[in-house]
Formats: sequence, structure tokens, C-alpha cells
Amino acid sequence: MADEVSADSVTLNLLLNARVTVRSSPLGVINTPMIPWSQTTLPPNNARNIHIKLENMQRTGSFKIRGVANQFARRPNGGHFVTMSAGNYGKAFAYASKHYGSKGKVVMPETAPVSRSVLIQSYGLDVERVPTSCLMDVVKRCVQEDNMTFLHSYDDLDLIAGHASLGLEVLEVVPEPDVVVVCCGGGGLLAGVAAAVKLSGCKKTRIYGVEPEGACTMFKSFIEKRPVDMDTHSIASGLAPPFAGMLPYELCQRYVEGIVLVSDDDIKAAVSTLYKAGLVVEPSGSAAYAAIASNKIPKLEGKDVVCILSGGNLGKDELGNFPD
Ligand SMILES: Cc1ncc(COP(=O)(O)O)c(C=O)c1O
Repeated sequence: MADEVSADSVTLNLLLNARVTVRSSPLGVINTPMIPWSQTTLPPNNARNIHIKLENMQRTGSFKIRGVANQFARRPNGGHFVTMSAGNYGKAFAYASKHYGSKGKVVMPETAPVSRSVLIQSYGLDVERVPTSCLMDVVKRCVQEDNMTFLHSYDDLDLIAGHASLGLEVLEVVPEPDVVVVCCGGGGLLAGVAAAVKLSGCKKTRIYGVEPEGACTMFKSFIEKRPVDMDTHSIASGLAPPFAGMLPYELCQRYVEGIVLVSDDDIKAAVSTLYKAGLVVEPSGSAAYAAIASNKIPKLEGKDVVCILSGGNLGKDELGNFPD
């Protein structure tokens, strides 16, 4: 992240412009559906009205394409890019690289499903799988020795502005939600959605981030009042980067009510319940639902709530990990 970028750089104007870019992107970003919980076969909940944002149906299977569309639109001359990703950013990055004809490499944690590496390679990109703690060192090596340009998968102004289009889209359906629940890894999605909602004037909306207990970097960052790193472990590999982003942290401090934690068992149960209701959602994408279903979000009764299902890239090989 460039030094001069801060939470003050994220203005409503910037986000509205990014939405135009994302909507007109040649990558075909979808305005994903939002469905009322009451019109699904999910177990009933006490909130007045829960809306489920189906970002699992997004192009490339997750919200990441929104931010990537904005990042690539702002680098029209292409380049040789490197990034680090557990899968979904890498997939969106690979899809965009192919479209724009740029070369690239994705550095992945060795815990990410192998099927994700194979898919990224099928778009013509290189993949290097390394221990989570080495991700940044390998990226730095690519920048210094191979002259690649680093595109960050969560700590980047263009990316976060692109993700904010999701928040703006939510407000087109629910103009002033009481509560918005968003999962959090490095914090790019949460930061973008929270900034979009608050800068649009929804002062009373409570926005919660959801992290796995074993990968709670933003939760710890809120306590320590600085972005922290930790040795992360979770079935939700997309929510388990080793550190919280600086810009996401600043934006979350400003716009997010709190971070709640869910266990891997809560996440597994959520994947299974959603699947039975006909919704294919991966572990990371299920965390917001898991938090609501396991009563981790305070004071939901009678409220208008938005729950974001952020991704649906669940391989057939992974399905066996979840309870019946
Ligand atoms: C499905 C899904 N949801 C959420 C996240 C977390 O996004 P962020 O790192 O912007 O917090 C990821 C990250 O890879 C993801 O793949």
C-alpha cells in the first residue's frame, strides 16, 4: 500500500466512480441477487427480515472480481503481476490476467485446496505454494528479482473501492439496514462494504465483521489498536491470511461496530445447512451466516439484517468435510 493512502482517501465519490468502473468492466461483474431468508428453506430466525446477498453466484464464484475489475481497469497497459491468495482472489486475478493479456504469478498458502491451484494454472498463470508465514517473503522476491508488480489481495485502495460496489448494491435493495454481517479475512471486503454503507449516510447501521476463532487478526487488531499478524488456522482458508491489512484496519476501526468470532464447527455446520437449502457456499463465504445462525451477532430481534455469502467455490472433493 502506498504510504499516502489512508482511510481519508476513501470518499463516497471514489466509491461511486469505482462502482461505475466495476459495472462497466469487460470482466462481466454481476449485480448479484439478494433473497429474503424467509423465502428459503433455511431454519427460521428471529430477525424481522434477513436478506441474503448471493455473492457466491458472482463471476469467478466470489466477490473478489469486483475489486480486481477496478484494479485492472486502473492499469490498462497491463504488466507482469504477482499476488498472494488462498484461491478466490487468485482465481479472479487469473481470470482478469487472461482477459487483459497480462502475465502473472499467484503465491498460495500450502493449506489452500489443490483444486484452486490447478484452476489458476489453467488460466495460464504460475502458482507457487508455500507455508503461510512465507507468503510475503516470496512476493518480495518476485518483486525484487523478477521485476513483477505486486497487486495486494486485500490491502489496496483500488481493490477496496471495487469491493465497495457490493455495499452500494445492497443499499439499492435495503436502503437503510439495521445490521450488515460480513466475513473478514485481511479485511478488504469488510472495509469496502462498511465504507460504502456508512459514507452513503446509513449512520445507524451496525456493521459486524466475522472471523474464525483460529484466524482472528482483525479482532486482535481492534484490541491492540494496530494491524497485527498471527499464526492462523481455519477451515475457511480465505479468512486466514497471516495479517490484517493496514487500510482495511483503518477503515474497519472507523466504520465497523465490532468483530465476532465463529468456530470451525460453526462454519462447517453453516456450509452444510446452506447446502441443504440449495446454496453452494464455501467455508469462508459461510462465516457471516454461521455468526447469525449461532447467535453471535447481538440484538438482531426485529431488525432488518443483511448477510453476505461471499463465495461459492466449494470443490466436490471438499464436500466430505462437512456434517450431514
Ligand atoms: C469467499 C471469501 N470470503 C471472504 C474473504 C475475505 O476477504 P478479505 O481478505 O478481503 O477480508 C475471502 C478471501 O479470500 C474469500 O475468498
